[in-house]
Amino acid sequence: MKQNPFDILQQNALNFKLNPISFREIFFISESPCNVYGLVDGLMKVVLHKKEEITPQTLVLLLQKNLANLFVLEEDRGSLRLAQQENLRHVTRSLSIGDPLEKARLQANLLTINLGYLYEDPTNDSLLNLQVQSAKNLAIFLYGRPQIHEALYREFIKQGHHYIFAQPFLSTLFLLGVMKSTRLYVDRDIELFFLTSYLKDIGMSAIPVEKYNDENLSEEDKKLLASHPQLSVNILKGRVPLPPNHLKIIENHHIYSTLTKQYNLADKDDPSMIFGFETMMISVMDTVAAMITDRPFRKAGSLFNSLDLIRLLIGEQYPQEFKLIVNYFKNFFRSQ
Ligand SMILES: [Fe+2]
Repeated sequence: MKQNPFDILQQNALNFKLNPISFREIFFISESPCNVYGLVDGLMKVVLHKKEEITPQTLVLLLQKNLANLFVLEEDRGSLRLAQQENLRHVTRSLSIGDPLEKARLQANLLTINLGYLYEDPTNDSLLNLQVQSAKNLAIFLYGRPQIHEALYREFIKQGHHYIFAQPFLSTLFLLGVMKSTRLYVDRDIELFFLTSYLKDIGMSAIPVEKYNDENLSEEDKKLLASHPQLSVNILKGRVPLPPNHLKIIENHHIYSTLTKQYNLADKDDPSMIFGFETMMISVMDTVAAMITDRPFRKAGSLFNSLDLIRLLIGEQYPQEFKLIVNYFKNFFRSQ
């Protein structure tokens, strides 16, 4: 298509004002809160008009036209965020109505989309409070329904969220299941451990997400990454209903880092480091969830290999717990 100079000028001005959004951000909303743009024949054009109805067919059509990369005007970014926040609020309130798997799937996906917004703006109290309330509700809902966990895991993986935002929910889903299998916990504990595990990586928001697509982080990025547990505590302290010992768990939540491949094993002999049962469980579930899911720079590893690493990490110190973990995962993936 031939472009006239006016088109080019107009396009340049538009490109300058457009922000990329994730395709998933137009999921789960019934009408577009603003104009959404896509690249059509080399030009930025409106592909969804403000207030246009969004149906599953709308999404399929966009994908068929190769319009997975979408953009909104800078000033409209907030309206999309608000729509997804409202969506999450609504599903949180009506979680127990309808098909449990469908509701849990929706809630987990909305929670993850909104977690992305929180990472963009970690000091925003309303985004953080919404995450806390929604995560607490989902914790109790899922704790009472272990029969849907595996299907939920598979459905959630299919959504293809960036792993930085998907990982907190996946590791926490595993944690919930293993806690259930111990029969040691009451609802209040479940809420707190769910929140602790789910919010433990919020300090990662200090590093731009694009950097995590590359396996070879610079030394500086590695340092920043290694400090994310402390950054998480700094972000959360005084803003979330987590007691000090739970913040301590967040501070110590890495026995092993799958990103830097660093072990913190030497620390376990240091009496100032607390590797209690819960800290260990949160760390181990995080490691397994990371190892068995895809990353932009590698394919998912096998459950067997991840459990082998866990055996090396904790097998000696926690032999009973290691058996519990192995049994839990064997049961979890029994249909494979
Ligand atoms: Fe972490």
